[in-house]
Amino acid sequence: MKKNSYFIKVYGCQMNEYDKGIIKALMTKKGFIYTEKNYEIIIYLTCAVREHAVKRLKGNLRSEKKYVRVVAGCLSEMLKENLIKEKLAEIVVSPTAYKVLPEKIEDFLKTHENLFISGENYESYEDIIPEVKGKSSYITIMRGCNNFCSYCIVPYVRGKERYKSYKSIRKEAMALVENGIEEIFLIGQNVLAYRWEDFDFISLLEEISLLPNLLRIGFLTSHPFDLTRNIIKRMSNIKKLIRYMHLPFQSGSNRILKAMRRKYSIEEYLDKIYFLKEIMPDAYISTDIIVGFPGEEESDFEKTIDVVKKVRFDSAYMFIYSDRPFTTSRLMKNKIPYEVAHKRFETLLALQNKITKEKAFETVQNKPIEIFPFKKKGDMFLGKMWNNRIVAFSGQVNEKGLTPVILKEVRGWTPSGYSIINKEENK
Ligand code: SAH
Ligand code: SF4
Ligand code: F3S
Repeated sequence: MKKNSYFIKVYGCQMNEYDKGIIKALMTKKGFIYTEKNYEIIIYLTCAVREHAVKRLKGNLRSEKKYVRVVAGCLSEMLKENLIKEKLAEIVVSPTAYKVLPEKIEDFLKTHENLFISGENYESYEDIIPEVKGKSSYITIMRGCNNFCSYCIVPYVRGKERYKSYKSIRKEAMALVENGIEEIFLIGQNVLAYRWEDFDFISLLEEISLLPNLLRIGFLTSHPFDLTRNIIKRMSNIKKLIRYMHLPFQSGSNRILKAMRRKYSIEEYLDKIYFLKEIMPDAYISTDIIVGFPGEEESDFEKTIDVVKKVRFDSAYMFIYSDRPFTTSRLMKNKIPYEVAHKRFETLLALQNKITKEKAFETVQNKPIEIFPFKKKGDMFLGKMWNNRIVAFSGQVNEKGLTPVILKEVRGWTPSGYSIINKEENK
């Protein structure tokens, strides 16, 4: 075991993935060493959004007692000191207190006194450049959420919305690009809520996209309520934009959407989707769907199925509703028995899987397309299309920038083909 060495395990969403880079930058400054083997300290970036995630994590924490276990991320705000009382962690740190984490770990290594570190709800980690590997990075531009959808724990564990300053985002993006990053995703629970002085989200996106040497820029997640035709139009004019739109609709039934406090009707949602498809026909559209929300009748579920058939999402994240602490839906009386929800889930999953596969086949066209390679896998490369769809290909690759590829088949779920560059010939 190396002294002062640590490892970070990430659960949950992109917010945690980004925070991994922030924690690494802060730990490096204090002389800690990141390693994937023989470490002394393990930091868990946890997720609290569904009961299932919590159960799995607790299992892992129980079996990894030989390390100094630091629980960070969203569950630390849900369970706080209880994680220490339950003997699941030595240190628990709020997602707003990572700046003091390295020194608190140093203290622990001397005193062996367990501790819970609470933070300040306004923290937005300005002026820290995340430590990331590869060609792609996230930048968290906003933290927290003010929407309070009735089923969701995020506003309670991540706090009120706050935004990183434009200046700080720009500085961070420039530093990342200088370090070799070619692709940046601006992220937040609802990026469309971004506000900073004169900047709203779309003007931020336009400005950052202009940075020299940045090849591609994307964003997630967007709340359908805040998406307008004007925003869609302006997005379509951004040359470097990754044409990927994650637009969760959650349910196809207006009655359920109202109980979820989603602030839009399904007609409004569909109107925005159709407009998006018209303006950006090549966009990749994905969504989140919850089945078995309290009070969901068979007829409500059929409306969800109907939306999936109408939109034909490129992919979807589908969940069975689960009760979460602090939320208002947990107090609703008309809960759906698990077997019923599960049966609906299976129906939905089968339908979406079929569509996801058909969509992958539609991608295969006998013409070269520009691919952003990001990983080598065996003798193949993995890369992403301009709409972020992942493809696999053989042959040669441009180390920087894009590689022209012809797709010829679908393997499993992934379109695959070969690159049409030949470096020998070009010499
Ligand atoms: N900010 C994003 C979503 C964050 S949580 C948005 O507003 O779209 C990611 C997804 O988890 C949600 O979109 C929802 O589909 C799912 N989810 C959240 N709470 C849930 C719960 N209590 N039960 C089941 N799924 C849930
Ligand atoms: Fe949760 Fe709704 Fe906020 Fe998304 S918008 S994080 S689902 S409360
Ligand atoms: Fe989970 Fe927290 Fe993200 S609850 S989904 S890791 S914001």
